[in-house]
Amino acid sequence: MHKWLLDLMACPDCSSDVPLRAGEGAWKGNELDEGTLSCESCGKSWPVRDGIPRFIPELGDYAPGFGFQWLRWRHTQIDRLNGTSLTEDRLLTDTKWDRDWIAGKLIFDGGAGAGRFSDVLAGLGAKVVSLDMSVAIDACHETTRVHGDLVQCIQGSIYAIPLRSNAFDAVHCAGVIQHTPDPERTILSMPRLLKPNGRLGYNFYELTWSRRLQLIRAGLRMFTPHMSQPALLRLCRIMVAPLFPLSRIVSRIRFVRFGLRFLPISASHQPELSREAQYEWTLLDTFDWYNPRYDQPQRHTRVAELLQQADFTEVESSHGIARAKKKNKRQNWSG
Ligand SMILES: C[S@@+](CC[C@H](N)C(=O)[O-])C[C@H]1O[C@@H](n2cnc3c(N)ncnc32)[C@H](O)[C@@H]1O
Ligand SMILES: [Zn+2]
Repeated sequence: MHKWLLDLMACPDCSSDVPLRAGEGAWKGNELDEGTLSCESCGKSWPVRDGIPRFIPELGDYAPGFGFQWLRWRHTQIDRLNGTSLTEDRLLTDTKWDRDWIAGKLIFDGGAGAGRFSDVLAGLGAKVVSLDMSVAIDACHETTRVHGDLVQCIQGSIYAIPLRSNAFDAVHCAGVIQHTPDPERTILSMPRLLKPNGRLGYNFYELTWSRRLQLIRAGLRMFTPHMSQPALLRLCRIMVAPLFPLSRIVSRIRFVRFGLRFLPISASHQPELSREAQYEWTLLDTFDWYNPRYDQPQRHTRVAELLQQADFTEVESSHGIARAKKKNKRQNWSG
């Protein structure tokens, strides 16, 4: 971890104003690879290992499968490594943040996974703090090292973020909210990080009628989150192998492609990707569908309502997306 991250950190158990101190541990210049962080107020301490400060999540790590997933597919969705701009396009479309606006900003990426968005943000010149509860954060750290000290990683929970309030220009959180035990609490846990006028971009699974009709998937999900990750991966391979060629054909047929969501795999057929890459994304997305313990899609109208109540302005939402701007007044955030 770099010194600039320590300057932003605060005790997750006291209040967001109590700074953390680096105790034992050797700084190499501005970097601390192994050591301890502690809070002088409550006396708690946390380790820094492999350059990542590690905070034991309040709820325990309920997402070990995500660690398995993102260590296995650590490079698959990284634009810089797969030669596409799929992640960058999605980020810019979903958030409506300008490339020029992003450059030089301080951005929090909540539930960063393998770091596909953190990597793009740093590539566009932002300083990024990436946080993830699982060991996915190690994949994120390794992948984003190429940006020097622009990306700093923390292993910790969105429910106890060890960072100061009113410090960030933007908060980004994609694909996480529905996988947490209390999505509304998750939605309201991150706004306190923003400076006045700071921008927020959320991406989540939308609750739709077609989701309710995905009966095979729902049936399988009754037991897949309880399987070991290698066993689940084997099951996903068994389903993807025969269904991928079918879904590839169906994906090219207008109107009929709607039916893809009723297959028990999460087909991914972006034309920018080679056939092999489409297969790997499909396997990853299928695993991602069946693995998480929590799967609680949200209505974007409700997410927008919560943000409005949390004193955001310019709140916009659409299918699976919400963005907003924090009002220009300082206040205490309880979330
Ligand atoms: C589907 S992945 C999305 C990763 C990344 N944002 C992306 O779009 O590729 C969801 C991630 O959220 C993380 N996660 C779930 N609950 C979390 C929490 N309470 N705090 C921090 N991370 C969490 C998981 O470990 C996982 O890496
Ligand atoms: Zn403390």
